[in-house]
Amino acid sequence: MICIASQKGGTGKTTTTVNLSASLALFEKRTLVIDCDPQGNATTGLGIDKKKVQWDLYDVLLGKAPAEKAVVSTAMDYLNVLPARFHLHQMENRLASTSYRERILRARIHALAADYDFILLDTPPSLGFLTLNALTAARWLIMPLQCQLYALEGLGQLLAVVRKVREEFNRELKIAGVLLTMCETKSARPDPIMSQISDRFQKKIFRTTIPRDSLIRDSSNFSKPLALHDILARGTEAYMDLADELIRLFQNKSNLQKANENPG
Ligand SMILES: Nc1ncnc2c1ncn2[C@@H]1O[C@H](COP(=O)(O)OP(=O)(O)OP(=O)(O)O)[C@@H](O)[C@H]1O
Ligand SMILES: [Mg+2]
Repeated sequence: MICIASQKGGTGKTTTTVNLSASLALFEKRTLVIDCDPQGNATTGLGIDKKKVQWDLYDVLLGKAPAEKAVVSTAMDYLNVLPARFHLHQMENRLASTSYRERILRARIHALAADYDFILLDTPPSLGFLTLNALTAARWLIMPLQCQLYALEGLGQLLAVVRKVREEFNRELKIAGVLLTMCETKSARPDPIMSQISDRFQKKIFRTTIPRDSLIRDSSNFSKPLALHDILARGTEAYMDLADELIRLFQNKSNLQKANENPG
Protein backbone atom coordinates (compact mmCIF):
# COMPACT_ATOMS: atom_id res chain seq x y z
CA MET A 1 0.00 0.00 0.00
CA ILE A 2 1.61 3.22 -1.20
CA CYS A 3 0.56 6.75 -0.28
CA ILE A 4 1.34 9.48 -2.81
CA ALA A 5 1.62 12.72 -0.84
CA SER A 6 2.90 16.28 -0.73
CA GLN A 7 0.99 19.13 0.85
CA LYS A 8 2.05 21.42 -1.95
CA GLY A 9 -0.59 21.68 -4.68
CA GLY A 10 0.02 20.63 -8.26
CA THR A 11 3.18 18.56 -7.78
CA GLY A 12 1.86 15.65 -9.87
CA LYS A 13 0.33 13.44 -7.15
CA THR A 14 -2.80 12.62 -9.10
CA THR A 15 -1.03 12.34 -12.47
CA THR A 16 1.38 9.90 -10.84
CA THR A 17 -1.39 7.91 -9.16
CA VAL A 18 -3.33 7.59 -12.43
CA ASN A 19 -0.39 6.77 -14.71
CA LEU A 20 1.62 4.64 -12.28
CA SER A 21 -1.46 2.56 -11.47
CA ALA A 22 -2.14 2.07 -15.20
CA SER A 23 1.48 1.00 -15.74
CA LEU A 24 1.34 -1.49 -12.86
CA ALA A 25 -1.87 -2.87 -14.38
CA LEU A 26 -0.12 -3.23 -17.76
CA PHE A 27 2.51 -5.30 -15.93
CA GLU A 28 -0.47 -7.47 -14.85
CA LYS A 29 -0.18 -6.45 -11.21
CA ARG A 30 -3.59 -6.38 -9.52
CA THR A 31 -3.84 -2.69 -8.69
CA LEU A 32 -6.31 -0.55 -6.76
CA VAL A 33 -6.41 3.24 -6.53
CA ILE A 34 -8.03 4.69 -3.42
CA ASP A 35 -8.92 8.31 -4.04
CA CYS A 36 -8.51 10.14 -0.71
CA ASP A 37 -8.91 13.61 -2.23
CA PRO A 38 -12.35 15.30 -2.24
CA GLN A 39 -11.37 16.88 -5.59
CA GLY A 40 -11.77 13.33 -6.96
CA ASN A 41 -9.31 13.96 -9.79
CA ALA A 42 -7.88 10.43 -9.73
CA THR A 43 -11.44 9.07 -9.94
CA THR A 44 -12.16 11.18 -13.03
CA GLY A 45 -8.67 10.60 -14.43
CA LEU A 46 -9.33 6.87 -14.46
CA GLY A 47 -12.52 7.37 -16.44
CA ILE A 48 -15.07 6.98 -13.66
CA ASP A 49 -18.25 9.01 -14.04
CA LYS A 50 -18.87 10.33 -10.53
CA LYS A 51 -22.60 10.70 -11.22
CA LYS A 52 -22.88 6.95 -11.73
CA VAL A 53 -20.95 6.01 -8.60
CA GLN A 54 -23.12 4.44 -5.93
CA TRP A 55 -20.71 4.39 -2.96
CA ASP A 56 -17.46 6.24 -2.47
CA LEU A 57 -14.73 6.67 0.13
CA TYR A 58 -16.92 8.97 2.23
CA ASP A 59 -19.53 6.23 2.61
CA VAL A 60 -16.81 3.71 3.40
CA LEU A 61 -15.26 5.92 6.09
CA LEU A 62 -18.70 6.50 7.63
CA GLY A 63 -19.28 2.75 7.66
CA LYS A 64 -22.31 3.04 5.33
CA ALA A 65 -20.78 0.66 2.79
CA PRO A 66 -18.03 -1.96 3.04
CA ALA A 67 -14.94 -1.02 1.03
CA GLU A 68 -15.29 -3.93 -1.39
CA LYS A 69 -18.78 -2.71 -2.37
CA ALA A 70 -17.47 0.76 -3.20
CA VAL A 71 -14.69 -0.50 -5.49
CA VAL A 72 -15.44 -0.05 -9.20
CA SER A 73 -13.63 -1.42 -12.23
CA THR A 74 -11.94 0.71 -14.90
CA ALA A 75 -11.42 0.24 -18.64
CA MET A 76 -8.25 -1.70 -17.80
CA ASP A 77 -8.00 -5.27 -16.60
CA TYR A 78 -6.11 -5.41 -13.31
CA LEU A 79 -7.09 -1.84 -12.34
CA ASN A 80 -9.88 -0.86 -9.94
CA VAL A 81 -10.76 2.34 -8.08
CA LEU A 82 -12.35 3.24 -4.80
CA PRO A 83 -13.71 6.62 -5.91
CA ALA A 84 -14.04 9.99 -4.16
CA ARG A 85 -16.57 12.75 -4.60
CA PHE A 86 -16.64 16.27 -3.22
CA HIS A 87 -18.65 15.40 -0.10
CA LEU A 88 -15.52 13.63 1.18
CA HIS A 89 -14.34 17.11 2.29
CA GLN A 90 -16.84 16.92 5.17
CA MET A 91 -14.77 14.08 6.55
CA GLU A 92 -11.99 16.45 7.67
CA ASN A 93 -14.32 17.98 10.29
CA ARG A 94 -16.05 14.74 11.14
CA LEU A 95 -12.74 13.00 11.74
CA ALA A 96 -11.54 15.86 13.95
CA SER A 97 -14.15 14.93 16.55
CA THR A 98 -13.82 11.13 16.29
CA SER A 99 -11.71 8.81 18.40
CA TYR A 100 -9.08 6.76 16.55
CA ARG A 101 -9.46 9.44 13.88
CA GLU A 102 -6.10 8.68 12.21
CA ARG A 103 -6.77 4.95 11.94
CA ILE A 104 -10.25 4.79 10.46
CA LEU A 105 -9.20 4.43 6.83
CA ARG A 106 -6.76 1.66 7.70
CA ALA A 107 -9.48 -0.27 9.52
CA ARG A 108 -12.03 0.20 6.74
CA ILE A 109 -9.80 -0.88 3.84
CA HIS A 110 -7.86 -3.59 5.65
CA ALA A 111 -9.84 -6.42 4.04
CA LEU A 112 -9.01 -5.20 0.51
CA ALA A 113 -5.25 -5.75 0.85
CA ALA A 114 -5.38 -9.48 0.13
CA ASP A 115 -7.00 -8.90 -3.28
CA TYR A 116 -4.28 -6.64 -4.72
CA ASP A 117 -0.56 -6.55 -5.46
CA PHE A 118 -0.49 -2.73 -5.25
CA ILE A 119 -2.82 -0.21 -3.64
CA LEU A 120 -2.09 3.46 -4.39
CA LEU A 121 -3.62 6.23 -2.28
CA ASP A 122 -3.92 9.68 -3.86
CA THR A 123 -4.12 12.46 -1.27
CA PRO A 124 -5.20 16.13 -1.15
CA PRO A 125 -2.66 18.99 -1.05
CA SER A 126 -2.84 19.36 2.73
CA LEU A 127 -1.69 17.63 5.88
CA GLY A 128 -5.21 17.25 7.27
CA PHE A 129 -6.90 14.12 8.55
CA LEU A 130 -7.45 12.56 5.12
CA THR A 131 -3.71 12.64 4.41
CA LEU A 132 -2.94 11.49 7.96
CA ASN A 133 -5.29 8.54 7.47
CA ALA A 134 -3.63 7.64 4.17
CA LEU A 135 -0.16 7.79 5.78
CA THR A 136 -1.39 5.64 8.65
CA ALA A 137 -2.87 3.04 6.28
CA ALA A 138 0.12 2.84 3.93
CA ARG A 139 3.35 0.89 4.16
CA TRP A 140 5.19 3.17 1.73
CA LEU A 141 5.28 6.83 0.74
CA ILE A 142 6.09 8.38 -2.63
CA MET A 143 6.69 12.14 -2.52
CA PRO A 144 6.37 13.84 -5.92
CA LEU A 145 8.49 16.99 -6.19
CA GLN A 146 8.14 19.30 -9.11
CA CYS A 147 11.55 20.10 -10.64
CA GLN A 148 11.50 23.81 -9.90
CA LEU A 149 12.85 26.44 -7.58
CA TYR A 150 11.34 26.17 -4.07
CA ALA A 151 10.51 22.49 -4.72
CA LEU A 152 11.76 21.66 -1.23
CA GLU A 153 9.63 24.33 0.43
CA GLY A 154 7.09 22.74 2.75
CA LEU A 155 8.74 19.35 2.53
CA GLY A 156 10.04 19.69 6.09
CA GLN A 157 6.45 19.81 7.31
CA LEU A 158 5.56 16.63 5.43
CA LEU A 159 8.61 14.87 6.84
CA ALA A 160 7.67 16.04 10.36
CA VAL A 161 4.21 14.53 9.87
CA VAL A 162 5.78 11.30 8.59
CA ARG A 163 7.86 11.12 11.80
CA LYS A 164 4.76 11.73 13.93
CA VAL A 165 2.78 9.06 12.04
CA ARG A 166 5.66 6.59 12.52
CA GLU A 167 5.89 7.32 16.23
CA GLU A 168 2.19 7.31 17.00
CA PHE A 169 0.16 5.39 14.44
CA ASN A 170 2.15 3.38 11.91
CA ARG A 171 5.67 2.18 12.65
CA GLU A 172 5.81 0.43 9.27
CA LEU A 173 5.69 3.62 7.16
CA LYS A 174 8.79 3.98 4.98
CA ILE A 175 9.78 6.41 2.25
CA ALA A 176 9.86 4.54 -1.07
CA GLY A 177 11.30 7.61 -2.72
CA VAL A 178 11.11 11.16 -3.95
CA LEU A 179 9.79 11.33 -7.50
CA LEU A 180 10.93 14.27 -9.63
CA THR A 181 8.06 15.38 -11.84
CA MET A 182 7.62 17.85 -14.69
CA CYS A 183 11.36 17.90 -15.38
CA GLU A 184 12.54 19.95 -18.33
CA THR A 185 14.65 18.14 -20.90
CA LYS A 186 18.18 17.73 -19.61
CA SER A 187 20.49 20.62 -20.37
CA ALA A 188 24.27 20.37 -20.55
CA ARG A 189 24.64 22.65 -17.52
CA PRO A 190 24.44 21.20 -14.00
CA ASP A 191 21.02 21.96 -12.58
CA PRO A 192 21.18 23.70 -9.18
CA ILE A 193 17.64 22.61 -8.27
CA MET A 194 18.39 18.96 -8.95
CA SER A 195 21.64 19.04 -7.01
CA GLN A 196 19.86 20.68 -4.05
CA ILE A 197 17.26 17.90 -4.08
CA SER A 198 19.81 15.11 -4.46
CA ASP A 199 21.96 16.53 -1.62
CA ARG A 200 18.93 16.36 0.63
CA PHE A 201 17.62 12.91 -0.32
CA GLN A 202 20.59 11.06 -1.81
CA LYS A 203 19.59 7.44 -2.43
CA LYS A 204 15.91 8.08 -1.77
CA ILE A 205 15.29 9.58 -5.21
CA PHE A 206 13.76 7.40 -7.91
CA ARG A 207 16.11 6.84 -10.81
CA THR A 208 13.14 7.45 -13.10
CA THR A 209 12.17 11.09 -13.53
CA ILE A 210 8.96 12.26 -15.17
CA PRO A 211 9.45 14.74 -18.02
CA ARG A 212 7.28 17.79 -18.50
CA ASP A 213 5.15 16.63 -21.41
CA SER A 214 2.06 18.27 -22.86
CA LEU A 215 0.59 14.83 -23.61
CA ILE A 216 0.69 13.98 -19.89
CA ARG A 217 -1.09 17.26 -19.14
CA ASP A 218 -3.68 16.67 -21.86
CA SER A 219 -4.35 13.06 -20.87
CA SER A 220 -6.13 14.26 -17.73
CA ASN A 221 -8.62 16.00 -20.05
CA PHE A 222 -9.34 12.68 -21.78
CA SER A 223 -10.14 11.06 -18.41
CA LYS A 224 -7.85 8.16 -19.04
CA PRO A 225 -4.24 7.24 -18.34
CA LEU A 226 -1.81 8.36 -21.02
CA ALA A 227 -0.93 4.71 -21.83
CA LEU A 228 -4.47 4.21 -23.17
CA HIS A 229 -4.19 7.33 -25.30
CA ASP A 230 -0.64 6.97 -26.62
CA ILE A 231 1.35 3.91 -25.62
CA LEU A 232 4.49 5.30 -27.30
CA ALA A 233 4.46 8.73 -25.63
CA ARG A 234 7.47 9.82 -23.59
CA GLY A 235 5.26 10.15 -20.54
CA THR A 236 3.93 6.59 -20.94
CA GLU A 237 7.48 5.31 -21.11
CA ALA A 238 8.46 7.27 -18.00
CA TYR A 239 5.57 5.88 -15.94
CA MET A 240 6.26 2.34 -17.23
CA ASP A 241 9.89 2.80 -16.11
CA LEU A 242 8.69 3.98 -12.71
CA ALA A 243 6.41 0.94 -12.33
CA ASP A 244 9.32 -1.32 -13.28
CA GLU A 245 11.61 0.42 -10.79
CA LEU A 246 9.02 0.06 -8.04
CA ILE A 247 8.37 -3.62 -8.75
CA ARG A 248 12.13 -4.31 -8.61
CA LEU A 249 12.50 -2.28 -5.41
CA PHE A 250 9.87 -4.39 -3.66
CA GLN A 251 11.23 -7.65 -5.12
CA ASN A 252 14.69 -6.81 -3.73
CA LYS A 253 13.22 -5.87 -0.37
CA SER A 254 11.19 -9.06 -0.09
CA ASN A 255 14.22 -11.19 -1.14
CA LEU A 256 16.29 -9.41 1.51
CA GLN A 257 13.61 -10.00 4.12
CA LYS A 258 13.39 -13.71 3.21
CA ALA A 259 17.19 -14.00 3.44
CA ASN A 260 17.14 -12.38 6.89
CA GLU A 261 14.36 -14.68 8.05
CA ASN A 262 16.15 -17.83 6.76
CA PRO A 263 19.87 -17.18 7.13
CA GLY A 264 21.97 -19.86 5.54
N1 LIG B 1 4.76 15.50 -16.35
C1 LIG B 1 3.86 16.46 -16.60
N2 LIG B 1 3.97 17.22 -17.71
C2 LIG B 1 3.08 18.22 -17.95
N3 LIG B 1 2.05 18.52 -17.14
C3 LIG B 1 1.90 17.80 -16.02
C4 LIG B 1 2.77 16.72 -15.68
N4 LIG B 1 2.37 16.18 -14.49
C5 LIG B 1 1.29 16.88 -14.13
N5 LIG B 1 0.99 17.84 -15.02
C6 LIG B 1 -0.10 18.82 -14.95
O1 LIG B 1 0.12 19.63 -13.80
C7 LIG B 1 -1.11 19.88 -13.13
C8 LIG B 1 -1.02 19.37 -11.69
O2 LIG B 1 -0.84 17.95 -11.71
P1 LIG B 1 -1.64 17.02 -10.70
O3 LIG B 1 -3.10 17.32 -10.73
O4 LIG B 1 -1.22 15.64 -10.96
O5 LIG B 1 -1.01 17.51 -9.35
P2 LIG B 1 -1.54 17.22 -7.88
O6 LIG B 1 -0.32 17.23 -7.00
O7 LIG B 1 -2.39 16.03 -7.84
O8 LIG B 1 -2.43 18.52 -7.61
P3 LIG B 1 -3.34 18.77 -6.29
O9 LIG B 1 -2.36 19.14 -5.24
O10 LIG B 1 -4.26 19.87 -6.68
O11 LIG B 1 -4.05 17.49 -5.99
C9 LIG B 1 -2.20 19.19 -13.95
O12 LIG B 1 -2.77 20.13 -14.82
C10 LIG B 1 -1.46 18.14 -14.72
O13 LIG B 1 -2.08 17.81 -15.93
MG1 LIG C 1 -4.32 15.79 -7.03
